[in-house]
Amino acid sequence: MADNGYNNELGVNESDSLSETVVVIREYDRKTDRERVEQVENSCEVGPNGELSLYTDLLGDPICRVRNSPAYLMLVAETVKNAGDGDEKREIVGMIRGCIKTVTCGSKFSRSKTGDPAKPLPVYTKLAYILGLRVSPFHRRMGIGLKLVRRMEQWFGDNGAEYSYIATDDANEPSVSLFTGKCGYSKFRNPSVLVHPVFAHRLPVSNRVTVIKLSPVDGETIYRHRFSTIEFFPRDIDAVLNNHLNLGSFLAVPKGYIWGGSDKFISDPPENWAIMSVWNCKDVFKLEVKGASKLRKGFAKTTRILDRVFPFLRLPSLPKIFSPFGLHMLYGLGGSGPLYTRYAKALFGFAHNLAKECKCGVVATEVSSEDPLRLAIPHWKILSFTDLWCIKRLGEDYSDGSVGDWRKSQPGLSVFVDPREF
Ligand SMILES: CC(C)(COP(=O)(O)OP(=O)(O)OC[C@H]1O[C@@H](n2cnc3c(N)ncnc32)[C@H](O)[C@@H]1OP(=O)(O)O)[C@@H](O)C(=O)NCCC(=O)NCCS
Repeated sequence: MADNGYNNELGVNESDSLSETVVVIREYDRKTDRERVEQVENSCEVGPNGELSLYTDLLGDPICRVRNSPAYLMLVAETVKNAGDGDEKREIVGMIRGCIKTVTCGSKFSRSKTGDPAKPLPVYTKLAYILGLRVSPFHRRMGIGLKLVRRMEQWFGDNGAEYSYIATDDANEPSVSLFTGKCGYSKFRNPSVLVHPVFAHRLPVSNRVTVIKLSPVDGETIYRHRFSTIEFFPRDIDAVLNNHLNLGSFLAVPKGYIWGGSDKFISDPPENWAIMSVWNCKDVFKLEVKGASKLRKGFAKTTRILDRVFPFLRLPSLPKIFSPFGLHMLYGLGGSGPLYTRYAKALFGFAHNLAKECKCGVVATEVSSEDPLRLAIPHWKILSFTDLWCIKRLGEDYSDGSVGDWRKSQPGLSVFVDPREF
């Protein structure tokens, strides 16, 4: 990095040792780093570059997006400059978060005499996830992002992770070329993030459907039975469902169906049903769309006022996205039966109305590119986007196991998106 004045190897530049700046990567310290980390965070837009930009406010807790994961780490990049009089000038200029958990990467059939040979069983892997990589706009293209990623991957490897993945926007060229060009990641999946505004009026929920709130134990039983072979299903689903941010798991069944507990439901389900859980991201971070013209803001405000005054007209109003707003994430969406997407739609209406009561700006969900729900779940195209997940195998000495190399597998119909790191 000789051409930018930075020495990333913590060495000494003999020609000008007084103005030498080195970059140190170290663990985030809540007591000393919070304020500066927030400043860097606020200076980085997270959406694609354009007229409008999306910013996040982590509500005073920069580690919030990983702290609910079983193992997590946040690192900061700090420049240390010799000020010449024996003093050092330190400045945080970047950060990265990472977490590790066990998830499903494929399925196999039981060979044991006691197991059901027709029922596939999940194959698990230890998966690491990189998120919240940010480098201050004044310190980019100096190798700091790369250095943060490498140090995080070292921690992943030390903790036995077999794969690492990241989610980014296909249009985010710096991020895509950093991970695929420099860090050895390959493009893996393209799930769709479906976003719907929360209107001032309630959405109708079909009166042919009953929505039941499940206990965490019943939710876990149904999820493990029906979803555990879906890619990215977290083995500690019980920890997800029992987390205080989980607002509940909901089951849509035909009107008249009598709920007799999850075991009875699994052995004798109705012909059509759907399940969905709701995660309260609103208490973790806020989003804000910046860069809108006064005209656009004024138009949005007018739609909201009209919708509030005349809710019976069911006007599709724009929420307050030009000031900080919260969201609910809908996850674990799935079901069975020829009409199951209708039941999922009923659950969506129910979730919208819950988000309205909680004063959220939008509800969002993320589904596989192959999932029929992608077309069935109401969303606004202008707010929705396609995610790009890139994956890397952290060690070549791992056994391929019964699913082989996960990177080479085809996408399934569904994907389980863990709300803890949304
Ligand atoms: C993405 C980001 C973290 C990169 O940080 P950085 O410190 O500038 O990256 P580095 O200097 O380590 O770059 C390493 C490599 O990444 C690629 N890269 C980085 N920025 C790039 C750009 N603007 N255009 C094209 N490639 C780029 C290059 O291959 C580069 O190597 P090179 O400089 O030898 O060509 C930074 O641009 C950023 O904070 N962006 C906003 C937040 C964001 O989008 N985060 C990623 C979400 S996953």
